[in-house]
Amino acid sequence: MQTLTDTRVDALDSEARRILRLNDRGGYTVPTDGLYPYQWNWDSAFAALGFAAFDVDRAWTELETLMAGQWQNGMLPHIQFHQEDAGYFPGPGVWGTEGAPGKGAGRVASSGITQPPVAASFALRTYAKDGATGQDRLRALFPRLMKLHRWFMESRAESGAIAIVHPWESGRDNAPDWDSAMAAFEPEGVEPYTRRDTGHVDPRMRPTKADYDRYIWLVQFGRDTDWDDAAFAERSPFRVADPTMTFTLMRASRDLVGIARILDEPTEEIEGWITRLEAGAETLWNEKTGCYDSRNLRTGELSGCVSNASFLGWWGGLRQGQPTETLHRVLADARYAVPSFDPADPRFDSLRYWRGPVWGVMNMMVSTGLHEAGLTDEAERIRRDTVALIDQNGFAEYFDPQDGTPAGGGTFTWTAAIWLGWASPTAQER
Ligand code: DGY
Repeated sequence: MQTLTDTRVDALDSEARRILRLNDRGGYTVPTDGLYPYQWNWDSAFAALGFAAFDVDRAWTELETLMAGQWQNGMLPHIQFHQEDAGYFPGPGVWGTEGAPGKGAGRVASSGITQPPVAASFALRTYAKDGATGQDRLRALFPRLMKLHRWFMESRAESGAIAIVHPWESGRDNAPDWDSAMAAFEPEGVEPYTRRDTGHVDPRMRPTKADYDRYIWLVQFGRDTDWDDAAFAERSPFRVADPTMTFTLMRASRDLVGIARILDEPTEEIEGWITRLEAGAETLWNEKTGCYDSRNLRTGELSGCVSNASFLGWWGGLRQGQPTETLHRVLADARYAVPSFDPADPRFDSLRYWRGPVWGVMNMMVSTGLHEAGLTDEAERIRRDTVALIDQNGFAEYFDPQDGTPAGGGTFTWTAAIWLGWASPTAQER
């Protein structure tokens, strides 16, 4: 890759800031106009990482609106519907979370499932930008973050690793990780629906109808059981322990210890969670593939998937027994790193969402973890590839790992955010 000129870096920095402003709806950002017109959980936390590079006050506001949508039981919904938008399906009426006992009264309309918990990690980073004014804002967020992590440990950590109850929770919606768990049930009784995503984006880049029928079936299951955690645990056909959830929670818990220390709060409970998560991570290790995998908790089977989530252990803070060899093989096989699915696997699909394309946010976490672990060549390779993809193809939602084709939505919040907070040469200098 050619080194970018200062002028080019300035132009990309300024375009990334423009995108964050463009997607700002007043206190929260949407991932991109049209395709995703609401506040998504981990997209929003990543937006804070981007804002923190040039407007720390706005970064705090993003985290505050995000955490204000927390349910009474501690769950942080994956979508907050601040205002209705007919361009997205499934909207608030389909989720039917109003009146769910776990939600509690007076909260913003929302979905009934969660997403990878990266909020504590970006709260700590935002604080690092300006500790003097950040102390009070960090203190105000702390009880909500504790409640969120406690909810995960109480309702999703029965195997030590964190279980998802819907593929959308992992953020890796149509990853092959979920194929066998999804194939194990028939989506009978799904009410007629019209997809909106394929009106915004080429259908070849999106999940299939078979996936969507099951996504909606699982939403109806949640609605019919009043979004009760125990009903999901006991009766839902879909329950899979996920490396993304496990490692983001592990990292966020370490960051929560950092926050507790800043605030002079006790850390024992959080440290206990980290110990349990570390034991849980071992249950996700797949000897055959030489990396972390997902495990179907209904059958006990590992899914046999090598994905970008397989390399999040470093981000989680683990150092021993990490999948370095498998990482090297995947890096050698991919023109652009890190593909969301193993290019050597027949299930690889270079354009279809989480079955192959490169995602900047995952690159940021994998590379940062590698860097912290001293694997600087691998970390730098991933950052360089991310820079090249954005420089040549813009701030797309995701990219084809073989030729860099931009895919999904454009002017994308979290791609702009990881540019400003990590990939840009100016982020490296800050
Ligand atoms: C979507 O609608 O594609 C989202 O990923 C669900 O969260």
